[in-house]
Amino acid sequence: MLLGITGSIAAYKTAHLVRELKASGAEVQVIMTPAAHDFVTPLTLATLSGRPVLTELVSGCGTWNDHVHLARWADVLLIAPLSANTLAKMVHGECDNLLLACHLSATCPVYVAPAMDLEMFRDPSTRSNLERLRDHGVHTIGPDSGELASGLSGEGRMTEPTDIVERLRSDLVGRSKLKGKRMLITAGPTQEAIDPVRYIGNRSSGKMGFALAEEAAMRGATVELVTGPVSIALDRPGIVRTDVTSAAEMAKACKSRSTDCHIVIMSAAVADYRPASPSTAKIKKKDSPLSIALEPTEDILAWMGRNRSEGQFLVGFALESDDGLAHAKGKMERKNVDMIVLNSLKDEGAGFGHDTNKVTLIGKDKDPVAFPLLSKSETARVILDHLESAI
Ligand code: CTP
Repeated sequence: MLLGITGSIAAYKTAHLVRELKASGAEVQVIMTPAAHDFVTPLTLATLSGRPVLTELVSGCGTWNDHVHLARWADVLLIAPLSANTLAKMVHGECDNLLLACHLSATCPVYVAPAMDLEMFRDPSTRSNLERLRDHGVHTIGPDSGELASGLSGEGRMTEPTDIVERLRSDLVGRSKLKGKRMLITAGPTQEAIDPVRYIGNRSSGKMGFALAEEAAMRGATVELVTGPVSIALDRPGIVRTDVTSAAEMAKACKSRSTDCHIVIMSAAVADYRPASPSTAKIKKKDSPLSIALEPTEDILAWMGRNRSEGQFLVGFALESDDGLAHAKGKMERKNVDMIVLNSLKDEGAGFGHDTNKVTLIGKDKDPVAFPLLSKSETARVILDHLESAI
């Protein structure tokens, strides 16, 4: 999410707000207006959020902070505190800093928590600006009544961080059909041992599966994430992570977890073959050619398709180079799955290792839907949106 902080004394509460948002599992990118720097230091917020704080559209020696990318990356934009000045600018579509540019580019829900002194809040211009912002579809949180920094008492106090987080949680999670659902998601590659030091593997980074797990947890699902070897650290509420190495270990972990899951998403790049007789000792180099006999691994997705529990929704991935749609549809029938996420090897920036992906979603009795190149978080969102409309 994007957290916009503007020039209001309530900005001092945003250190606490960032902590609360992080604790609830959000990834927080802070954007401060120049005036906000007078009230709280970027260092504090960068440390708490774990990301550099952004303020300028162009910073340093011509580095452009891409507001379009930031706005598309975010699943929610929260501006807290919202000053009377930024409020007025938002109403008129002004765009003279990074936060305002992100607001104009945002396609996600926008929330604001106004904070200002009593008379500023009472002023008819502020009242009508807030009304117009609501007409634009922006959600307002507060302000609350109480003691104000000026010493006056009345309306204008920023809603407490805990209450802001609670409101976001109930609005965003409350709407999702995934709330309360149990999900099994696989991620990453598998490694099939040749000998104690070598293996057959693939270039999957696990980013897509992890993005799906995070998005699903954000929507209120409880996620069993079974992952092959990846270098992604993830520790967040709602996700129970199990690390495995080989296809056989992944199969075992998935089978024991799938029975009571409402939804299973198999995004792992499971090896199709493994060495038939892995050597227990390191294979020594010789001058002659070396052949390794391979045997098929178990197709975990196909097992899930044969053994699915009542009402379970099954999603598979397909990475194809030619005739993608036809192959993916064939896979869907053969493995008895409800939805296939198709990647084409021909698409630049899609598939293994990239931060982006370009997918076509294929469901039963529906025309395939092709999406443009998106970040893996955005891709996770469109996949889960599609899934929600199918379940
Ligand atoms: N899959 C699996 N177990 C395997 C191999 C694949 O569960 N041993 C799953 C993947 O997680 C993915 C889907 O099957 O969801 C598609 O995998 P893919 O390897 O592309 O398809 P295959 O059925 O193996 O067909 P092919 O290799 O011919 O494309």
